[in-house]
Amino acid sequence: MENKGFILWFTGLSGSGKSTLAEYLTPILRERAVRVEVLDGDIVRTNLSKGLGFSKEDRDTNIRRIGYVAGLLARNGCCAMTAAISPYAEIRDEIRAQTENFIEVYVEAPLEVVESRDTKGLYKKARAGEIKNFTGVSDPYEAPVSAEVIVHTGDESIEVSAQKILDYLVSAELVR
Ligand code: ADX
Repeated sequence: MENKGFILWFTGLSGSGKSTLAEYLTPILRERAVRVEVLDGDIVRTNLSKGLGFSKEDRDTNIRRIGYVAGLLARNGCCAMTAAISPYAEIRDEIRAQTENFIEVYVEAPLEVVESRDTKGLYKKARAGEIKNFTGVSDPYEAPVSAEVIVHTGDESIEVSAQKILDYLVSAELVR
């Protein structure tokens, strides 16, 4: 039987581990005969959303584009994993309403943790005022209130986080 398509929508602060988790899960899902595509925020912004900035309007446009493409993929039996901050609850819910199998994964990590890791050096720049409207520092992040899965990447290993997501997908009969 064909696999059902679905969107695995990761949301969380910059540096929380969204992309890392998506990349980690990719071969695991492929082993289970799931077709996978990852729409990563940083990569999408170099092509599909090239030229967009970080105002609310531009972020909403970025997220709607990602949601649109993810929806096409899911409709065709793929697992579309999206890894963008997607800070606004309303737009996430808008995309949820457009898709049959929308799984929201809240990649929760305290600001102190992502800021101390500062993998891209952007928090430092944001604090110095060199980057304006930086999520979590000078721009809002609206945490999900009813995410299907919550992972705590500040204090659990990637194996544990990935297993939680996999367990959910199996229980929802989206993955065998
Ligand atoms: S979203 O808000 O539109 O979902 P997206 O995930 O595509 O954001 O891009 C976030 C990435 O862009 C961050 O991980 C970071 O590398 C970079 N970035 C640059 N400026 C900002 C900013 N002002 N706020 C958040 N991220 C930024």
